[in-house]
Amino acid sequence: ASRRFFVGGNWKMNGNKGSLGELIATLNNASLHEQTDVVCAAPSIYLDFARSSLDPRIAVAAQNCYKVAQGAFTGEISPAMIKDCGADWVVLGHSERRHVFGESDELIGQKVAHALQSGLGVIACIGEKLEERESGTTEEVVCAQTQVIAENVMDWEKVVLAYEPVWAIGTGRTATPEQAQEVHEKLRAWIRANISDEVADSLRIIYGGSVTGVTCRELASQDDVDGFLVGGASLKPEFVDIINARA
Ligand code: G3H
Repeated sequence: ASRRFFVGGNWKMNGNKGSLGELIATLNNASLHEQTDVVCAAPSIYLDFARSSLDPRIAVAAQNCYKVAQGAFTGEISPAMIKDCGADWVVLGHSERRHVFGESDELIGQKVAHALQSGLGVIACIGEKLEERESGTTEEVVCAQTQVIAENVMDWEKVVLAYEPVWAIGTGRTATPEQAQEVHEKLRAWIRANISDEVADSLRIIYGGSVTGVTCRELASQDDVDGFLVGGASLKPEFVDIINARA
């Protein structure tokens, strides 16, 4: 595919300045494919630290944000604050936000709209649960989630869509290349039918869920897999192999 490869590392709520500093040093010294966009999603309290330590060729993302710029919302952070720390991206709709913290499609949509209006790039996450896959509703579920995101996007240039089947996240059960390709292809067809050919051809659809240095290459070779969102393995030196997965 002609789309620029995109690899995000989602550190989730892991690490400290010591261990993340070591990881950052490894990334800064690694040889990374120049044709790949690399983004590290740091815990919000470490955004400044990540941005000031990471090489400028690696972008920084927040893992969440709120839907307004400022106000009486104790514990929340805004896109304006994320930008003020020098980060350019935010992950929204991650499965842990949806299923551990109960975020609704509606709230995620509002966050997407506000983050984009504030000038952040958005890594928008979707994905079905195991019972949904087993009952044959995967396509319906991911297209419905995509629809709510799409209703809140005016300009797709700063959006990356992350398909993360919930059953594959943190389980070691990576989707097979065929399973990932099948859903990515359907998502691109949905975008083509409901948005435009142009957006369908240019939107990066990335895969997340137990991606490792071993599973990344074959996944990366699929036509509609334009990169990865990596959790566990993004905290290890093998993240470099994942960034460089596309031949
Ligand atoms: O955002 C990343 C995903 O939740 C994947 O996490 O690679 O640890 O399965 P994982």
